[in-house]
Amino acid sequence: NVEFSISDVKKSAELEEIRVLFLGKKGYISQIIEQMRNMTHEEKRSTGQLINILKNEIEANLKRKFLIISAEEEEIRLKNEKIDITLPGRRISNHVTKHPIIEIINILKITAIDLGFNFVDGNEIVSEFFNFEALNIPQNHPARQMQDTLYIKNIPNALLRTHTSAVQVEYGSLVPPPIKIASVGRVYRADEVDQTHSPMFHQIEMMHIDKDISIANLKYCCTHIISSVFEKDINDIIFRFRTSYFPFTEPSIEIDIGCIKDDENNIILASNKNDVNKWLELGGAGIIHQKVLQNMNINPQEWSGFALGFGIERMAMLKKNITDIRHLYEGDIRLMKNW
Ligand code: PHE
Repeated sequence: NVEFSISDVKKSAELEEIRVLFLGKKGYISQIIEQMRNMTHEEKRSTGQLINILKNEIEANLKRKFLIISAEEEEIRLKNEKIDITLPGRRISNHVTKHPIIEIINILKITAIDLGFNFVDGNEIVSEFFNFEALNIPQNHPARQMQDTLYIKNIPNALLRTHTSAVQVEYGSLVPPPIKIASVGRVYRADEVDQTHSPMFHQIEMMHIDKDISIANLKYCCTHIISSVFEKDINDIIFRFRTSYFPFTEPSIEIDIGCIKDDENNIILASNKNDVNKWLELGGAGIIHQKVLQNMNINPQEWSGFALGFGIERMAMLKKNITDIRHLYEGDIRLMKNW
């Protein structure tokens, strides 16, 4: 009956079931062998021969059938796998958006261009001079400790820029005023990685030098940027200008944004001043220090300017409710889908 049951089989998985049934450890053949225990020597020999023939016969049949079935299965598989290139593509743009950092950078670029700024590229590896000295941060100045610097091994005075302010003097010393530039890119600091720190992050820098530039121009620019980035009317965002200190601006301010922080450390933008229980610093700014203007060969009696620098990760995290800065760099597609 073996041949009969095998010929009915349609799938290779069923064939395997039959193999186990006959040839498996507890299969029919094993059962027969088990019963041979009580036989005489002669009986064992003749029965053994018969069993061997039977076993080979079953194996051969199984194998023959297997070759037929697997060829059929292969054919079906190939037929199913055939790609219909005439089918319309699936839309993915509804589900996947830009990376949050890129999204913010794009908004910042459009906004800065609207405000009349031109974008310039700076280098990520800069001299100590442009990152520090030219910005009125001499050696041993405590501000150098404020920004833990990554130096380039074996190249004296070369470092990874700690802020995009490094672009300012380099550009300003090449091009005479009026100057209205912006620059965006990566900056580096020797910070330990944690929920809110990364040794690499992004900043945007804007610098405007002209006749009669005042802090009013700076405030207008900051306000416009905050409103564009968060895509809200500025009256619906709580923010403040706080006096601060940077060696390269005088006076200096920092821009804080009012937030609501809950028990689980989720931080969202506040829309009412009374709800604010956490102020987050978005960036620094100020009126360019006279010494810095002089370092660009610009006459401070004739010209004045403002500079500002915003952290882009901060903006992205606030806007997209991202609670850990590391999520921005892990390449997890869910970052773009859900957030
Ligand atoms: N460079 C400063 C920082 O990284 C920010 C800043 C830019 C401050 C321009 C004043 C003017 O913290």
